[in-house]
Amino acid sequence: MSTSTKMESSSLVYILDAKIQKQRLKDMKNSASKRKIKVTDTFSIGVTHLVTEFKEYDQVLRKLDLTNQSSLDGIEVVTLQWFADCIRAGKVVDVEQKHRLQRAVTQRSEEVERPSQSSGLPEYACQRATPLQHMNEKYTKALEVLEKYADLRESDHDYSRALAFRRASCVLKSLPFALSSIQQLRNITNIGDHSKRVIQEILEDGECPEVENILKDPWFHKMKLFTEIFGIGPSTAKQFIAKGWSTINEVRNGHKSADWRVQWGLAFHEDLITPVVRQEACYIYELVLKHLRKVLPGAIATVTGGFRRGKASGHDVDILITHPTEDKVTGALPRLLHSLEATDTILHGRHERSTYTDDVISRNTKLSTRGQLDHFEKWIGIIKVPKKIKANSDNEGNGVVLNVNEGPVTDKSRKLCNGAHKLVNENTDVNEKDYDTVTNSTSVIYSRNGASENASNVMNLENEENLENDVSLDEVRNEQVASLEGSVDVTELRSVQGERSHDQTPAELAAGERDWLARRVDLIVAPYSQYYYALVGWTGSKQFNRDARTYSDRKLNMMLTSHGLYDKTLGKKIPASSEREVFDNLKLPYHEPWDRNC
Ligand code: CTP
Ligand code: MN
Ligand code: MN
Repeated sequence: MSTSTKMESSSLVYILDAKIQKQRLKDMKNSASKRKIKVTDTFSIGVTHLVTEFKEYDQVLRKLDLTNQSSLDGIEVVTLQWFADCIRAGKVVDVEQKHRLQRAVTQRSEEVERPSQSSGLPEYACQRATPLQHMNEKYTKALEVLEKYADLRESDHDYSRALAFRRASCVLKSLPFALSSIQQLRNITNIGDHSKRVIQEILEDGECPEVENILKDPWFHKMKLFTEIFGIGPSTAKQFIAKGWSTINEVRNGHKSADWRVQWGLAFHEDLITPVVRQEACYIYELVLKHLRKVLPGAIATVTGGFRRGKASGHDVDILITHPTEDKVTGALPRLLHSLEATDTILHGRHERSTYTDDVISRNTKLSTRGQLDHFEKWIGIIKVPKKIKANSDNEGNGVVLNVNEGPVTDKSRKLCNGAHKLVNENTDVNEKDYDTVTNSTSVIYSRNGASENASNVMNLENEENLENDVSLDEVRNEQVASLEGSVDVTELRSVQGERSHDQTPAELAAGERDWLARRVDLIVAPYSQYYYALVGWTGSKQFNRDARTYSDRKLNMMLTSHGLYDKTLGKKIPASSEREVFDNLKLPYHEPWDRNC
């Protein structure tokens, strides 16, 4: 106790401005000043804590023009995480190991970080940056056809073949050059012989006969068609083919399923195979946020999945929900669903309760192959989105503007996403970035930030704060959601207020006149203590997760899931309070969501 008081009074913090936006730096200083934490603008004798965004000690030394490590003796060189912890605590907190920048690389991380191949390309996809747009599409498209084909054939043997193709295409996506000779892959172990042959053929003849044959194969096309139906997997699709069916209508006429996904999926098939565009994701996000705020002030919602990785469209919208106070999310999802329900926006869905118990994080399950089951409470469903949202965005050429790998988003798209639906255009590390708004912040749909955009993010968050305060308690009571807390026994939920919805079959509803499209939405609820692992898991990609899990297991003897990280050697959980910390804990270089597109 006394040491921390002493430390507090004599502490002097210097924030190294490198890699920190001006506005953000200003906000940090303001936050500190409000809490009587002394921050100096100049690096001088007396500085006790140096805060930096850099990840390596050496970078700090270089920035300060210091030549050897001992120059910083006696000064704690710490991450922004430490600063965030201070702000949260309202005082200078003790520096823990996790806050410190590593001076010398430890034996363990050295082993892990060393590229496993002489090409300099690390072995696991989670160790590499894999952008959405890359220079080897010719080959990756072909390999992905082979992957899909193997995946649809669906025997164990095919599954490992599918993975091998995916791994190969993953490597090609992270190559910083366009392949021009097979020799360039000489040292890359991730590309198997079969994949090499395919690449070689494309290099020589412009195409691969095996791939061309699959593309001409009617079985392949039917399988793709049928497995695109919501709720239909390869084995059911094979049964359809065995019955001689080749169109969706034949399935509609002949297949009776008790599964709600298939019933609704078949009825709204045309809607559901139309890609969800970013503007619709914005709309859904705003809608969810509006209701979430009412039922759980201070909750955080984040668009994850493909949109967070920068994709311009996707098959659904994945929204991860949490609250900085650990237990507050309990019961929130049923309330949220009822609130949405009252405005007739839900078409149909299914609420799954959490099946998490403390031991799932350490349970020694074999790394799951196909499924990526987690234990979060979630809602898997279909909601209605006005047709005009997509129509407008099509007219605006949204897909082009949001081509994220081609540089910062233009003003035009920012307006599209920001203006219309008051989107919070930010990254999602509430802890690291939104010091003062952490308790009532709402975030965040990903849109790649140009360097100049952070200042406006701060403004957005302030706006959000005001909005937050505008939601009166009366409003909450009027919605009568408070009384529903935890008591709702939802399994399948369907519009009750809709003019005609409850006495119509899904097919009738789909065929009727309507001004909305059916859109797939996943809502996932994570307790805050698991949130950053959930964020990484639900951001994906699926292959990124697979590799990160295999890597953790093999290289670290740790078990990674969307619920957390378990160190099997030490027999304990490793917590994380930011997405970066998840990467730090995994001894991985941080990769932004848009670089996780493997
Ligand atoms: N995911 C998961 N557990 C599940 C389902 C999904 O961890 N039970 C992860 C997947 O690995 C994926 C992310 O959550 O990375 C989103 O899943 P999904 O919507 O299926 O994929 P997207 O990458 O978002 O693809 P799309 O854009 O087509 O929606
Ligand atoms: Mn998705
Ligand atoms: Mn999803």
